[in-house]
Amino acid sequence: MNVRPHRFPRDAAACPCNAGQWTYHAGSMPLPTTNPLVYLETFGCQMNELDSELVTGHLHALGYRFTDDRDAANIVLFNTCSVREQAENKVFSRVGRLKQEKLAGRRVTIGLLGCVAEREGASLLSRQPEIDLLCGPGELDRLPMLLDNVMKGALVDWRERAAVQGSSTRRTATLSAAEDSLESLDLARAFDPSRGDSDRHAAYVRITRGCNKFCTYCVVPNTRGAEVHRPPDAIVDECKALADQGVIEITLLGQTVNHYVYVHGAAVGSDGRERPPSGPGLTAVGQSDRGAAGRRVTTFADLLRRIHEEVPGIRRLRFVTSYPRDFGDDILEVMQHSPRICRYLHVPAQSGSDRILKRMNRGYTVGQYRAFIERVVAYLPDAGIAGDIIVGFPTETDEDFEQTCKLVRELPFKNNFVFKYSPRPGTVAIDRYADDVAESVKRQRINRLLDIQSEVSRQVHEREIGRNHHVFVEKISQAKTSGSGRVELGWVGDTAQVSGRTPGDLITVFDVPGEATARRLLGTIVPVEVVGAAPRLLWGRWRPENES
Ligand code: 5AD
Ligand code: SF4
Repeated sequence: MNVRPHRFPRDAAACPCNAGQWTYHAGSMPLPTTNPLVYLETFGCQMNELDSELVTGHLHALGYRFTDDRDAANIVLFNTCSVREQAENKVFSRVGRLKQEKLAGRRVTIGLLGCVAEREGASLLSRQPEIDLLCGPGELDRLPMLLDNVMKGALVDWRERAAVQGSSTRRTATLSAAEDSLESLDLARAFDPSRGDSDRHAAYVRITRGCNKFCTYCVVPNTRGAEVHRPPDAIVDECKALADQGVIEITLLGQTVNHYVYVHGAAVGSDGRERPPSGPGLTAVGQSDRGAAGRRVTTFADLLRRIHEEVPGIRRLRFVTSYPRDFGDDILEVMQHSPRICRYLHVPAQSGSDRILKRMNRGYTVGQYRAFIERVVAYLPDAGIAGDIIVGFPTETDEDFEQTCKLVRELPFKNNFVFKYSPRPGTVAIDRYADDVAESVKRQRINRLLDIQSEVSRQVHEREIGRNHHVFVEKISQAKTSGSGRVELGWVGDTAQVSGRTPGDLITVFDVPGEATARRLLGTIVPVEVVGAAPRLLWGRWRPENES
């Protein structure tokens, strides 16, 4: 039995083995007779989804088993998001419930992975001893070791159950260059056989870790560290391996994905292999040699072109999230000439007020942002464009907000994700500016903006009626609303309803004859004619006769 000296109030402790002592069961990982059962829940962005997938593959290969049932698990892992307070609160309320269960005698190991772990730091383990391990997003390759240490229980100091980088040690180019274990984690991807069909045909591939932009509201540069770009050969190899396994859609991931730049030979290890360099950042990206004086450089446009040419099995290549500044015409040109690159951009404006953009340290004006969108539309008239907006940033006045409304009304975006500003520890904004926009005002602003966007989205979707698209089928609809407004099962009689996305990322819903057909189409790309539109989706008609 493993018992660690966690300090819990005597009267709260209900551990049968030490009745009333100031200790309770360690991470409840009695050395298992069968392989431990893991429950992993993921919060936040696509980066986290990818991290969870890689962690799952890694642990799976080591013999851990996975379950969807949190109550049945020996190990509960939360891959956390720190971007807004609400996301953090959700995790801590889950942890609170598990703490009660532990106090009532349940043996379960609780692990926090991801940005909350990094932001809180190792001392969280002494402040909240019900949590057994912490692992930041830059340390996920060390998770098996941490789990091992938890199993050793009292023999291991709590510091050995935390792997975080700490804000004072933001991964530098040298440090990152010296470490390629994270790189191996990306490359050692394994598919989870229990995943749905469409999932096995779509995958995320990371091209850049971290962010150098330091928008004043954002924790990401602290939690994910400095920008480090993966070598293009490793990325192309990963795409080829995925294509060989049947993947037909790849989404490239980076916090500022268009800033990808790899300077060849920037760091070479003792084995002669290139190591990832950190990005030269904004100013260098603006220079003609991209800060690489004389060295061979692979830009984001080069990388897109390479994947498109060298991995034709990938029928859809997408990327998120773009940063509006320095999005070069070279990228738009490659997109224009590469039929398998989706004409989809997620490129957040964050605000329509120059004054607020400046306070956010976004590095562009509204005029520059508009000019960029005009360029996108000129190159790719059929592009689907989405953005993010934050309302209620400190000092945002009614006038600032009206400017944001004007921007949202005038840009032909398929959707905008709208967030209420949430002050985050460790950011510049929380130190510099009081959170002075009332919650009720933030709420009103978010609702108003969502209404405006809904109308714009409806117009964007309506112009698609009568067009033909190729839709990547992702889901059998859970529910179907009949003409009477009644919610019915996804298949009714001989008809099943499926949904997927066009190359411009427009959600499209259509009927197919029967469940068997629906299942067969999952994870494939099929021709569909658009016959109707709503603010959030298109209605289509399957056109198998147009199959190419
Ligand atoms: N408060 C509210 N929204 C935020 N975002 C990032 N940080 C914050 C914050 N502190 C939003 C931005 C970003 C998206 C991923 O989350 O809009 O683009
Ligand atoms: Fe955060 Fe700004 Fe980096 Fe995006 S670009 S991750 S908002 S700091």
